[in-house]
Amino acid sequence: MELQLPEILANLDVDIEDPATCPPARWGIIGPGGIARQFLNDARDGTACDVTAVASRSKERAEAFAAHHGIAHAYGSYEELVASDEIDVVYVATPHSEHRDHAILALEAGKPVLVEKAFTRNSAEARQVLDVARAKGLFAMEAMWSRFLPHMVVARAIVRSGALGDVVQVVGDHGQTLTHVERMWNPALAGGALLDLGVYPISFIHSVLGSPGEIRAMGHRLSTGVDSSSVAALMYPDALGVATTNLAARTPTRAWIGGTQGRIDFDTDFYRPGGITVAIGGEEQVRWEAAYPAGGFQFQIAEVARCLDAQATESATMPWEDTIEVMGIMDEVRRQLAVRYPDEPSLRPRHPGGGPG
Ligand SMILES: NC(=O)c1ccc[n+]([C@@H]2O[C@H](COP(=O)([O-])OP(=O)(O)OC[C@H]3O[C@@H](n4cnc5c(N)ncnc54)[C@H](OP(=O)(O)O)[C@@H]3O)[C@@H](O)[C@H]2O)c1
Repeated sequence: MELQLPEILANLDVDIEDPATCPPARWGIIGPGGIARQFLNDARDGTACDVTAVASRSKERAEAFAAHHGIAHAYGSYEELVASDEIDVVYVATPHSEHRDHAILALEAGKPVLVEKAFTRNSAEARQVLDVARAKGLFAMEAMWSRFLPHMVVARAIVRSGALGDVVQVVGDHGQTLTHVERMWNPALAGGALLDLGVYPISFIHSVLGSPGEIRAMGHRLSTGVDSSSVAALMYPDALGVATTNLAARTPTRAWIGGTQGRIDFDTDFYRPGGITVAIGGEEQVRWEAAYPAGGFQFQIAEVARCLDAQATESATMPWEDTIEVMGIMDEVRRQLAVRYPDEPSLRPRHPGGGPG
């Protein structure tokens, strides 16, 4: 008997735990900028965790952030924060160019880390961070929060169920008007569209199809040399992935997973909390969405707290190998776009199925 859509959804093998029930963990933030505020709000509104310390390169900025948000401890250096007994885990919320050094700083001080996306500037730096985590036996994870959102978890379960048939095309787009943001222009901060925005569709495609074979990329560069737009075609033996990104336009930021028997369409913006529309056989359609408080980071924050409680060094949903592979895909896209950051060794052509050869 053929399963109908509501039955497919009812029979999915998914277990989305309420982030509010996660074990408590005391977080310390490195880099009190824009994204640190959302992290703090979602940790407090959506989980059993708290932010107990913040560090800035300036004592005044740390104290101002701490006072504004009611954080108990403010440090005028990142070194002081990672040495603090007031925290269990560090959130690295600095620009991409700094992620490797700040993550290693925390790990060397014996603290597990959650590192903002893009995890590092390139796959070689990602390996360096994860080598330290491995040597220290400490948890590390890329903050690719979208992977933990309920609609993403459900979409992956639908793919696994076989209801879409064979997945033959996965498409993701992410464009925002960010030309006014200095960090995006700056090669020294590893700016550009790819590491900030393009990482979402690339990681999304990777979460469904895994590591591609051949990659072809085209795009534009800003006057500073960083990428402003790109289209990346990811070739798989029986499927295609297409990722587009742009920092000069607010694009629809949609995504879909196309199979031989059905399709999943993600709402705008696909990487944020939202819903999906599932169509099987091109006719019957069903919506899936969940309502929950806070901005969506709570799911990844709870995942980290649960992994720490279980003494795991990596998350099964965002494992180290996936981070290295996603960084390897972006290395290859940048190599083809001729985008290289200062002091970065030349990017070597990627070997299909892995990082640079
Ligand atoms: N998950 C998401 O939805 C999301 C959204 C936006 C951004 N992000 C990611 O979050 C990270 C930070 O982005 P953001 O928008 O929050 O940046 P931001 O507002 O510029 O904040 C970055 C913070 O890093 C610190 N920092 C350390 N070294 C720095 C340097 N050399 N130059 C500039 N700042 C430096 C600064 O704090 P002090 O100088 O006070 O120490 C600054 O407040 C990036 O990796 C970005 O991709 C994620």
